[in-house]
Amino acid sequence: MNSAAWIEKADKYIMKTYGRYPLVPVKGEGCYLWDADGKRYLDFLAGVAVNNLGHCHPAVTAALAKQAGELIHCSNYYHIPQQIELAELLCTHSFADQAFFCNSGAEANEAAIKLARKYSREKYGLDRYEIITALSSFHGRTMATVSATGQEKVQKFFDPLLHGFRHVPFNDVTSLKEAISPCTCAIMLEPIQGEGGVVVPDESYFQEVRKLCDENNLILIFDEVQVGMGRTGKLFAYEHFGVTPDIMTLAKALAGGAPIGTMLAKKEIAAAFSPGTHGSTFGGNPLVTAAAIATVRVILEEGILNRTEEMGEYLLGELETLEKKFPAIIKEVRGIGLMIGVELNIPGGDIVKKALERGLLLNCAQEKVLRFVPPLIVSKAEVNEMLGILTGILEEV
Ligand SMILES: Cc1ncc(COP(=O)(O)O)c(C=O)c1O
Repeated sequence: MNSAAWIEKADKYIMKTYGRYPLVPVKGEGCYLWDADGKRYLDFLAGVAVNNLGHCHPAVTAALAKQAGELIHCSNYYHIPQQIELAELLCTHSFADQAFFCNSGAEANEAAIKLARKYSREKYGLDRYEIITALSSFHGRTMATVSATGQEKVQKFFDPLLHGFRHVPFNDVTSLKEAISPCTCAIMLEPIQGEGGVVVPDESYFQEVRKLCDENNLILIFDEVQVGMGRTGKLFAYEHFGVTPDIMTLAKALAGGAPIGTMLAKKEIAAAFSPGTHGSTFGGNPLVTAAAIATVRVILEEGILNRTEEMGEYLLGELETLEKKFPAIIKEVRGIGLMIGVELNIPGGDIVKKALERGLLLNCAQEKVLRFVPPLIVSKAEVNEMLGILTGILEEV
């Protein structure tokens, strides 16, 4: 079946939760995707920061194939070796002591919200339930995470929202301080806002935030769903800021494209979850956790972090050169590692469409920020190929 035929069927059977581009990917390898008509695309979106090892990385594919032939799923009523091994890997390489597994970023954040509330209420009293999050943040599409998200467009139509969230401007310590009340139990932030338009805070911001949490006995939750797993050139983005959170959520790139989420926490806080207080049927099943172990090992053992830093600096530098060449179009270039945003003076939708026509997959956040989140295995030649296409489009614009 060709792309047009698939799209016609999609119009009939798929709900319109996404404004989809006319692309039907059927095969992927490394940084490239092929559509149902055989056209090739250079993928600088990587499933929105999911395919950090590129499409169908051989280690991930092999782990999935092997595990699929041994045991795909079993209940969390039992102990799952792959889940245990993954938890050990993640805890050994982070601040955390224990993990809870689920299937998505939103679910990981739900778990974090529930854990923060339960721990705080048991320790400090029933009034301690409020969580402060940032304006322009994005934490997911479930009711609790929509309530946590600081964007009206995500919340519109879904009232009444979950009670107990307060939103303050990102990167603004004074507003955060003013928002803390006796009801506050946690502060939940993305280390770098992704959907908010690749917003990198000041270097000292998180140190101030950590201090506020310590002074007020608040839990610091980092949502690393988008920026974790090597995206910024470190395994976790918090490592850039010289602070550690108390709870961290991961998802997207953790299992190389298989659906997974996790919430990691320090032991004392994690202990607030007792049997029956939280759970997930599929969470951390043998298939996805086998894929995640393979993914984490490749990231740690095959020089992916250094490569991300190196290629990120190259891409950032080249985009800054484009900024100088097209000052009327490009307002600012920013980012860390291979999490880069190009803020435009004009809406970016047409640029994304033109790129698609020319075989390049990009994305635009907040209408004016082109987001570059390619696989971390991207080569210099592939970066140059992308720059060639982008320069051609900017010259026309
Ligand atoms: C920072 C952040 N948190 C949470 C989510 C939600 O993740 P999911 O779509 O897997 O539920 C996203 C998704 O884009 C995200 O970027």
